[in-house]
Amino acid sequence: MRKSWIIIAALLIASAVADVKLVTSEFSAKSFDNSAVSGWSVVGNKGNNLISTCGDQTIFGGYNAFGVGASASKNYNSGVDHFELTFNFDLYTVDSWDNEVFSLYVDDQLVYSFSTQYNQPSPRPINGACGAPNWPDRYQSVTVKLSHYRRQFTVRLTSTLDQDASDESWGVKNFQILARHGGGNISVISEEFSQDSFKSDASSWTVINVSPAFTQCGNGNKLFGGYNAMGKDSIVSKTYNNLPSHYGVLFAFDLWLIDSPDSVDYVQVIADGQISRFYRPDWNYGDSQNFICGVQGWSERIVKINLFVPHKGSSINISLRGVFDEAKDNESFGFRNLRIVSLGCSSARCQQVSNEFYQQTFADPQNWTDEGGNALASPFKTCSGATLFGPFSVPIVKTYDSLQPHSGVRIFLRVYTLGDWTNASTGLQFYVNNVLTTPKVAAEFAKNKICDADTESVRNYFIDVPHANSILDLNIKPVNFAGNTKYTIRDLSVTAYVEEGQTLVSSEFTQVNFDSANGWTVNGNTNGVVASRCGKYSVFGGFNAFGRKTSASKSYQQLADHDYAVIVFTIYFIDTWDRENFNIAVDDVIIKRLTKSDTWSGHQNLCGRGDSKEETYTIQLFVPHNANSLKLTFSDELDQTTDDESWGIRDLSVLIGKNQGDGYVSKDDTNCIQIYTACNYDGQSLAVCDDIPDLAAIGWTKPIRSISIPQGKSIKAYKSANYKGDFKEFNSSQDCLTGQNYLLINRAFNIDVEPETKLKHQRRI
Ligand SMILES: *[C@@H]1O[C@H](CO)[C@@H](O)[C@H](O)[C@H]1NC(C)=O
Ligand SMILES: *[C@@H]1O[C@H](CO)[C@@H](O)[C@H](O)[C@H]1NC(C)=O
Ligand SMILES: *[C@@H]1O[C@H](CO)[C@@H](O)[C@H](O)[C@H]1NC(C)=O
Ligand SMILES: *[C@@H]1O[C@H](CO)[C@@H](O)[C@H](O)[C@H]1NC(C)=O
Ligand SMILES: *[C@@H]1O[C@H](CO)[C@@H](O)[C@H](O)[C@H]1NC(C)=O
Ligand SMILES: *[C@@H]1O[C@H](CO)[C@@H](O)[C@H](O)[C@H]1NC(C)=O
Repeated sequence: MRKSWIIIAALLIASAVADVKLVTSEFSAKSFDNSAVSGWSVVGNKGNNLISTCGDQTIFGGYNAFGVGASASKNYNSGVDHFELTFNFDLYTVDSWDNEVFSLYVDDQLVYSFSTQYNQPSPRPINGACGAPNWPDRYQSVTVKLSHYRRQFTVRLTSTLDQDASDESWGVKNFQILARHGGGNISVISEEFSQDSFKSDASSWTVINVSPAFTQCGNGNKLFGGYNAMGKDSIVSKTYNNLPSHYGVLFAFDLWLIDSPDSVDYVQVIADGQISRFYRPDWNYGDSQNFICGVQGWSERIVKINLFVPHKGSSINISLRGVFDEAKDNESFGFRNLRIVSLGCSSARCQQVSNEFYQQTFADPQNWTDEGGNALASPFKTCSGATLFGPFSVPIVKTYDSLQPHSGVRIFLRVYTLGDWTNASTGLQFYVNNVLTTPKVAAEFAKNKICDADTESVRNYFIDVPHANSILDLNIKPVNFAGNTKYTIRDLSVTAYVEEGQTLVSSEFTQVNFDSANGWTVNGNTNGVVASRCGKYSVFGGFNAFGRKTSASKSYQQLADHDYAVIVFTIYFIDTWDRENFNIAVDDVIIKRLTKSDTWSGHQNLCGRGDSKEETYTIQLFVPHNANSLKLTFSDELDQTTDDESWGIRDLSVLIGKNQGDGYVSKDDTNCIQIYTACNYDGQSLAVCDDIPDLAAIGWTKPIRSISIPQGKSIKAYKSANYKGDFKEFNSSQDCLTGQNYLLINRAFNIDVEPETKLKHQRRI
């Protein structure tokens, strides 16, 4: 192994990502003093100490500073309309930890926790003395991602340590927060009703059946509408003009549901005729801490609405309408903190590939077919005066061609679930060019009687994946459909984009059919074959071609000035891989190892042997790089013949980019398991990165409804604390736990992480 391997491997975690704003970067100097602790409010620290030394580094907190009772919090404002926050930091657990837990809270929600013990080795080396002598110390890099929309947020770091900071302590370093937003061109269209006592002016709104226009709910909460003011048959609407060019509009507001709205009562939000419905999330009317206003003895609910509407025109009409069956002294609603932004992208960076099924009524199937290329039977349904595309219980596919050069695609669609979707394994899979994607699924924001039945709901799906092919093949596959289970869709939009600051160097293997590989040097392939067919497409290599220690390299020359390179490709793992490595090297240094997750099983049967399935992944790698040539090498460590284990590559793009100042540096995922309070990876979430003996002890007492599990990892969830009682093991993500699976998962986790061979999910938004 070359010495530089280690150096490059360490550098690799610094990558450049645009469409991401650096909110803060703190405690990054090797040594710093108390002046670096600005804006933090610290309580419970020992002797007013804020910093300490661990090895050759200064850290925030640590030995003799942050022990029992210490907590540090700070307020931030991202300054952009983000939809995801990423926290990167180095966590130090110093001295005699005994399964206590370090926790990160955002807006008082627990989002990350880590538990460890004094006898655990340090995941990363500490150079020099740290903390008390005779007790080992540990440090590691942490990445936490969470869905988050508000510009302003509060961060709190704390622990359950119960000893003095001279005995056990925690500290952090290289604390960084990044906010991912929808693209380069976000404009705020409106911000209304956001102060506690906002100016009472509804003159720009058309108001029907609302009186008085404004009320107070509890202390300081002024609402547009509210108790006995806005309810049954109330409609408020407003048109916003002169919107800049955009591909979607995001509405965020706090919807207050007052007193007793139940399952037949809802608020419609209508954006240019597109109707979304919002219900009270529960019917726990008796919980006294939410008796805020209205009829005493009936609790209120505040629903944080985030609604993305694909939209293009220069004006938009939004209205809110109460559909209630009781009068407004009994069931009412109001709202505040309305914020409307448009998400745009300059035409140089973004291409609107498609915008389909968004009109109120439509009658063109837009070239969608079944998997055999046949027209779809009766593909339209009318529902509440609007057309839905469907209902279907079979996969539907469409190929978009002539995409301009790009490095990623964003796909938004709205799925109306019809019939029975109660089985947790019932769902939809979305394949983009044969690659299974992990979409972000927004909450089921409307339930009941979408068209006919009580069980119906609407789900928003948003897919954001690396993609470089000029052809985009979208395949929507139903999973575990039975009887009357059906899906329909509306509001589908596809946008291709190049991230800001990047330039395409090369785009290869993107044709449907190809049989050559220009400029590549291939060694160890079978019978000199360089291309084969795998499913619908040609691949570079493939079955009976690449395997048993094949390597393929190419050099890219005369690169313009750059700080990093981005390599995007789709890898096909064909047939019976037994956890052998697939390696990607840049300039002869391995930068990434991947493997297939299962020997015989996999995602789909595409090519090769009939008795084993294939897996495909789109991989995006960032490599610090500034030389004017770059050598890329793919190789395997397989030990069987290519009719038994093989690999292929498609859709390879090489891009280079310049760092746009410190603001655009991000780290790679650490791939923790993530638990959520709602189905479909929604609601509150917690990144679980190591064993937790008792979730309740660290403040997580909520039900767990879904779990996202990166490939190669598994989770054992126990019924009782300290790994006691019945347990359930999961090897793959669970999008909605019900029945025994739900009941069994209570408090404690034992997480079994398989080292080294883990594959990353596609980048999640
Ligand atoms: C806006 O939409 C609402 C509900 O769809 C409608 O009642 C209202 O007339 C519309 N306003 C304008 C200016 O089009
Ligand atoms: C609203 O009306 C329903 C039906 O009459 C009744 O059961 C309920 O108690 C009322 N709620 C309130 C808050 O008065
Ligand atoms: C933002 O949009 C405006 C027009 O709507 C356009 O002129 C401008 O170039 C865009 N900026 C970026 C960074 O995309
Ligand atoms: C449907 O396919 C035809 C032939 O490829 C093409 O000309 C047409 O533009 C497509 N229509 C849509 C809506 O994609
Ligand atoms: C869900 O569907 C699977 C596969 O069809 C079936 O084995 C299982 O029994 C179903 N579970 C429930 C609770 O209906
Ligand atoms: C998870 O994977 C392990 C190891 O491959 C296997 O022993 C276990 O049965 C799997 N569990 C489930 C629930 O599939």
